Amino acid sequence: MVDTELFIEEAVEEIENEVGDANAVIALSGGVDSSVAAALAYEALGDRLTPVYVDTGLMRKGETEQVAETFSYMDSLRIVDAHERFLDALSGVTDPEEKRHIVGEGFIREFEREARDAEADYLVQGTIYPDRIESEGNIKSHHNVGGLPDIVDFEGIVEPVRELYKDEVREVARALGLDELVAERMPFPGPGLAVRVLGEVTEEKLDVAREATHAVEEELEAYDPWQALAAVIGKATGVKGDNRVHGWVVSVRAVESRDGMTARALELDWETLQRLQSRITGSQENVARVVYDVTHKPPATIEYE
Ligand code: XMP
Repeated sequence: MVDTELFIEEAVEEIENEVGDANAVIALSGGVDSSVAAALAYEALGDRLTPVYVDTGLMRKGETEQVAETFSYMDSLRIVDAHERFLDALSGVTDPEEKRHIVGEGFIREFEREARDAEADYLVQGTIYPDRIESEGNIKSHHNVGGLPDIVDFEGIVEPVRELYKDEVREVARALGLDELVAERMPFPGPGLAVRVLGEVTEEKLDVAREATHAVEEELEAYDPWQALAAVIGKATGVKGDNRVHGWVVSVRAVESRDGMTARALELDWETLQRLQSRITGSQENVARVVYDVTHKPPATIEYE
């Protein structure tokens, strides 16, 4: 484990030295890594740091509002509502890698515009140690590690948490006084809910995945999972009231892991599973079934696409 006080002191100093009198930007995702990187950089640079949060419409329930509140102390914070542009770009697309690519590209376009506006010479990133390993191994296109450095002609990239594991980043978040909700936040992929709805991305499927993910995160809190989520994996027949319906199938996934590179599916008790099932099917008319995913990583990945 790291000595958090010393880490913060050294990280702030490093950012000050690297950026000097210039301006910097950071893409804020709502997750703990970029939140910690932003808080460190803001301490070093003040309003010469522009944190940019792009609302892709693929975010979790309440995420945008929470980011706005947590970082309201930063006058330079920019929140970009881009959800219509993302949904348009994803319309009709079913291939998983193409979906990832579209979200990544769209994100870069939004971010690039903001970075130019802010006249930023430096890019601050919340890259952590396991991101670099997965990215080097090229296991999956991680849009938050690849594209950004290449877009604007940045003079330099600053990655203050690059040597840390997730649990260490959480400790630093607490030491920085960031909201416990941020410190405890489960990892959430760059492509967001787009990789939690199989096939075409539609508002209806996103709403189902968003509500169900919220239920799963709440109901499984006591298990303290690395990640708990819900994905919309298809349609099946069910009975609601007196009617047969053709509704969505929601798959619940809960795993333990240290770095996301391997993971074990959690053994949940039957009562918890049933409570989840009844909450999800009960609150959403168009959900016919809930299933629990018992697959470890490998062979499955944590996300569905
Ligand atoms: P997989 O699904 O590959 O995910 O087992 C491993 C961990 O990485 C997260 N993940 C991503 N994170 N950008 C990210 O920042 C991405 O494109 C991305 N894809 C997956 C996933 O949530 C899990 O924690």
